[in-house]
Amino acid sequence: MSIKAAIVNGVATIEIARPEKKNALTQAMYQSMADAINAAAGAGEVRAILITGQPGIFTSGNDIEDFMNSPRSGLDAPVFQFMEALIGCDKPVIAAVTGAAIGIGTTMLLHCDFVYVADDARLAMPFVSLGLVPEFASSVIVPALMGNRRAAETVLLGDPFTGAQAVEYGIANAVLPAGEVVNHARRVAERFNNLAPSAVRESKRLMREPQRETLRATYKKEAEIFGSRLKSPEATEAFQAFFQKRKPDFSKFE
Ligand code: COA
Repeated sequence: MSIKAAIVNGVATIEIARPEKKNALTQAMYQSMADAINAAAGAGEVRAILITGQPGIFTSGNDIEDFMNSPRSGLDAPVFQFMEALIGCDKPVIAAVTGAAIGIGTTMLLHCDFVYVADDARLAMPFVSLGLVPEFASSVIVPALMGNRRAAETVLLGDPFTGAQAVEYGIANAVLPAGEVVNHARRVAERFNNLAPSAVRESKRLMREPQRETLRATYKKEAEIFGSRLKSPEATEAFQAFFQKRKPDFSKFE
């Protein structure tokens, strides 16, 4: 069981739990997360959704073995079901990030309503470093949030950034001590138990709906390029380098 889903006190918690692989996300895990979000969206007793990882690791992003051996095919692939569930969710989604949040670990945060990061958080979008391109509409959201200069550093160079920088860039609400971040996020989620639920949903829909069509069109456009790049010689070199624990050599490509 790599995704643990539970509903307690009005909060649907989705916990990424595959610590032996640094919480790398497989197709099955995306499907479980999509199913959990959709179930929470439809469950009357759920007021908010909380996404967490493990101490020291939120997620190392997409499972790189999956990238190599069972690349996503078509827009009904589990990863897109997960994106669609998160983008379309009208209930508040809160993320609590401890440790590394890499690739989709960072880009999923762009679609959450509240993001709390631990003081040990390390965010990164190393798509280019893997011979890939941005996903989850991050090619549009990241420059809009942090400006083209910082987007060039974090997307084109793939430079990691801290929790404090995530707050400065508008990706996170606050930095907390690592031992407190999940409890803090849960307390925020539980505040929705005292608020008018349909007013919350309608308000979120009013704020998010105008962006949703653009986000969907963007992730579909990204997905086309991403999908073909997964089979590219550059990405193959990057994936092999990861498992051989060496730096990729892109010198032969032009
Ligand atoms: N996909 C598949 N396996 C992964 C993985 C991923 N995204 N991230 C980590 N793992 C595996 C490692 O291969 C290793 O497996 P092994 O024990 O069988 O050798 C295990 O998880 C532990 O990872 P390791 O790299 O040894 O841990 P670390 O503490 O030194 O580093 C990270 C942690 C997260 C910094 C590092 O694993 C990493 O950079 N992962 C890849 C991140 C990435 O590029 N993701 C894709 C984004 S699109």
